[in-house]
Amino acid sequence: MNNSHVSPGSFTGTSPVWLKEPDDVNDLMPHLWSQTAEKRDGDLYVGGLSIPELVANVNTPAFILDEDDFRSRARAFKEAFAPADVYYAGKSFLCTEVARWIDQEGLCLDVCSDGELTVALRAGFDPERIGYHGNNKTAMELRRAIIAGVGRIIVDSFDEIERIGAITAETGTPARVMIRVTAGVEAHTHEFIATAHEDQKFGFSISSGDAFGAARRILEHPGIDLRGLHSHIGSQIFDTAGFEVAARRVLALHAKIAHELGHVMPETDLGGGFGIAYTSQDDPKPPVELAAGMREIVTQECRGLGIEEPHLSIEPGRAIVGPSMCTVYTVGTVKQVALDGGHTRTYVSVDGGMSDNIRTALYDADYSATLASRTSDAAPVVARIVGKHCESGDIVVKDEFLPSDIRPGDLVAVPATGAYGRSMASNYNHALRPPVVAVKDGVARTLVRRETVEDLLTTDLG
Ligand code: LLP
Repeated sequence: MNNSHVSPGSFTGTSPVWLKEPDDVNDLMPHLWSQTAEKRDGDLYVGGLSIPELVANVNTPAFILDEDDFRSRARAFKEAFAPADVYYAGKSFLCTEVARWIDQEGLCLDVCSDGELTVALRAGFDPERIGYHGNNKTAMELRRAIIAGVGRIIVDSFDEIERIGAITAETGTPARVMIRVTAGVEAHTHEFIATAHEDQKFGFSISSGDAFGAARRILEHPGIDLRGLHSHIGSQIFDTAGFEVAARRVLALHAKIAHELGHVMPETDLGGGFGIAYTSQDDPKPPVELAAGMREIVTQECRGLGIEEPHLSIEPGRAIVGPSMCTVYTVGTVKQVALDGGHTRTYVSVDGGMSDNIRTALYDADYSATLASRTSDAAPVVARIVGKHCESGDIVVKDEFLPSDIRPGDLVAVPATGAYGRSMASNYNHALRPPVVAVKDGVARTLVRRETVEDLLTTDLG
């Protein structure tokens, strides 16, 4: 799904052409790992803690969250984009403590459900600094958001405009909204996570006139304050050209609404979607570069349109939490499977799988991995790391060089699983969703505990 990929099927033997044999299979590839990750005598350390020792207590599979790394990525976005606001996309991963970190680092928060809003409010997050997304928010969700004083609701349909209008009229509480627009940009990412092309469920199309029509309709509701336009073109994007085209179209509409409807909106949000490195193929731009590019386009466009620059905001999720977490698994079985052409593939089965990382199965995503609990002198072999679920598509890492003596009891760690790993985890096969353990300065804190069988039985009324 990454834009720099070779086409599927371009294999040499049993591995994709981009996968290069490492000089030393025991080494970490630093740009894939959180900043405090390192190997000491073959053991993975994160946050100054030995991961083999840590999981001896918390068990596997487990998500390990590097707090310093998370905070520094959040800060890097905040500082690079200032004075723009950075809304951390909670859908990528959210729990009460992470909402507090986001607050402490001075970021705002994007939520997209009543559940996420509840976590944010529980963390004491100022509702003013929360944005609320969703293409089908219920009347109950909207009412709660409006009464809580959420700073911006990102409106996604004409039905929703009427719903919000009715709630503001009935409760006497005004609502601040942005219009989610589709800019007609084909972002180079997996089809399922691209969101600004025309034929999809989100937002109002700019080119069809719907987005303008939405603005006109909103302005007819006295209780709704139209704050701006919002565009999110997709996820795991490396090519900034898509953001540029979207920004141009969004700002042109911004100007049209000002000129033709006489309403000057103070804000514009250009969404999230900044790509991260999952494998050696990926080379993401640092936030300062992204920010400089975006600022330049906005300044230029606004000058050309003769409008004042609106206050900008962005919504990264993956680029903050993605690289901050890794998942640690225990190897259960190792199997050599004969393939056509005399090749074999080494299947390494671990104690998790598609219930803690659906992204490989869902988006054909690539990941990397390392042996995390010892050094090995054995020759590297291209292995496939698979889960324990009853599906052949239950793959965690499609192809990775691991030592050929990989065996049951070894720990393997997969980097860059922080975004959409735990947040899209499921109880498939009645799997118990793994914990999230934060590590910092040699101290571990469980932020989300492992589920128990009792948790599962609570909802099964027998
Ligand atoms: N803003 C909006 C309106 C979004 O819909 C999303 C992601 C974001 C911001 C954050 O995007 P990010 O910076 O994290 O790429 N589950 C998929 C990605 C779907 C993302 C949905 N929306 C995945 O695992 O890749």
